Amino acid sequence: MKIVIANESHFKYSQVICDTIEESAKVRGTGIAKRTTEYIEKRLKNGNAILALDGDTFAGFCYIEVWGHEKFVANSGLIVHPDYRGQGLAKKIKKAVFELSRKKFPDAKIFGITTGLAVMKMNYELGYKPVTFSELTNDPEFWKGCQTCKNFDILTRTETKMCLCTGMLYDPHAKKKVEDNKLNTKAFTRLKSIKEQLFLKKKEK
Ligand SMILES: CC(C)(COP(=O)(O)OP(=O)(O)OC[C@H]1O[C@@H](n2cnc3c(N)ncnc32)[C@H](O)[C@@H]1OP(=O)(O)O)[C@@H](O)C(=O)NCCC(=O)NCCS
Repeated sequence: MKIVIANESHFKYSQVICDTIEESAKVRGTGIAKRTTEYIEKRLKNGNAILALDGDTFAGFCYIEVWGHEKFVANSGLIVHPDYRGQGLAKKIKKAVFELSRKKFPDAKIFGITTGLAVMKMNYELGYKPVTFSELTNDPEFWKGCQTCKNFDILTRTETKMCLCTGMLYDPHAKKKVEDNKLNTKAFTRLKSIKEQLFLKKKEK
């Protein structure tokens, strides 16, 4: 398995990346925004994306986006092809995209929003902490990226204050505390279920 920084020679993978994201969104039923091939190719071209390839076969992807004049970067669009899941590949891709973010944007706060417990666990181990959306970028373009998520109406109703996703942030300038780097998954599963009950119930009324 190769984990590489993507470039224009990888455009041939943009369709399979979009299809894998779309299929996974259908299966998971929540919290994944759709992407077009043009959108993916822009990320492949600017040296801000990581690809995992098994020979020539697509295995996984994640990209960096820059917000608020490089004050923030987001690690977004993490996807591992179903054939390669459960082998620690997402962890490797996440680490690679995190290291690339730190190298290219050493002063930026790194953040992500997710409903996925797997992503929360990986972020936490990299040093991210859960935060409210008010601590993330207020760049409206970032939140526009959520428009194709099926929960977008919740984000609109709450004026981007909260949604089913949890915001997580790595602050390179925060004082490091010595603490356990394992996420309390029970608490987050419970929190997610509370949010679903609150927000999705309202939606059905
Ligand atoms: C989420 C996803 C990227 C995980 O990929 P993966 O390669 O199977 O993950 P890994 O094998 O590297 O596992 C990383 C960690 O997450 C955990 N994990 C993996 N899938 C999980 C799941 N569905 N639920 C809870 N934890 C999970 C693993 O146990 C591992 O934790 P550990 O180190 O404590 O054992 C993959 O399932 C996927 O592409 N899903 C669809 C897209 C998606 O949800 N993307 C995230 C959008 S925010």
